[in-house]
Amino acid sequence: MSGDVISLGQGVDQFTVGDRVLSLTTSYGAYAEKIVLPANVIHKIPESMSYETGAALLAATGTAHHGLRQRGQLKAGETLVVLGAAGGTGIAAVQLGKAIGAKVIAACSTEEKLAFAKAQGADEGINYTKQNLKQTIKELTDGQGADVVYDPVGGDAFDACSRSMAWNGRLLVVGFASGRIPELPVNLTLVKGYSVVGVFWGTFTIKQPAEHAANMRELFQWFEDGKVAPVIDAEFALKDGIQAIKKVTGRNVMGKVVIKP
Ligand SMILES: NC(=O)c1ccc[n+]([C@@H]2O[C@H](COP(=O)([O-])OP(=O)(O)OC[C@H]3O[C@@H](n4cnc5c(N)ncnc54)[C@H](OP(=O)(O)O)[C@@H]3O)[C@@H](O)[C@H]2O)c1
Repeated sequence: MSGDVISLGQGVDQFTVGDRVLSLTTSYGAYAEKIVLPANVIHKIPESMSYETGAALLAATGTAHHGLRQRGQLKAGETLVVLGAAGGTGIAAVQLGKAIGAKVIAACSTEEKLAFAKAQGADEGINYTKQNLKQTIKELTDGQGADVVYDPVGGDAFDACSRSMAWNGRLLVVGFASGRIPELPVNLTLVKGYSVVGVFWGTFTIKQPAEHAANMRELFQWFEDGKVAPVIDAEFALKDGIQAIKKVTGRNVMGKVVIKP
């Protein structure tokens, strides 16, 4: 969520009334006109960032950033495969992968989504409803496999990627939008010498606040440098929030939807 600080609790001196801020609100809910938040989960929005962009930024881009930086250890020159690449966190991973200097392969379910991911910087695209994901990753990586896979989808796409990893690769478990939590024959990790790495950004922000704060500084800098920018597919009034949720669950969103009170 994003908005203005309208009042402060006792002892809060790092903000002033009127500050433009954004925050994660997993425990409190952001479908509201006003919200009470602990000061340590709030960040001031850069001058050049709109409220809409601020609201769209944190969960999706923060997750992708933490996933690729701390968990994936993605390096310039490596190959990154992003599943669900046109979704909220997927398109953020595409942008961040390019910002880090990786070769980015976007994998999505439609040609429209692939075109969108390429317009956001992806070097290659795979339509996993038409193309064999495992085979195409192999072809696009000269038989080496992916150094890092960013997976918010799970299910069949995870299964294919678990057989498409490069030596020393990192398969990032981000989410299960497909509805199926996959199971892994662990011999695959031995044979290919790769790691399966869980990504849980919300808990990271609580358990590693200093690293989270450093991540936010880097993300805001990259936003100001034009390297990352949340893409807003649609905006809905608060009274139409149910339509926003239906659009997301209907697999129809490219980027993020924003609800405005
Ligand atoms: N671990 C964390 O810290 C963390 C943080 C944020 C989000 N998440 C999780 O990551 C997942 C993705 O989040 P998101 O914000 O990127 O969601 P999103 O915008 O809805 O994107 C998810 C993508 O998954 C793909 N998908 C495949 N099967 C689907 C289905 N049956 N229904 C809906 N989408 C389907 C879609 O791409 P195609 O149509 O191209 O397949 C869609 O674009 C969610 O499960 C979310 O809970 C985890």
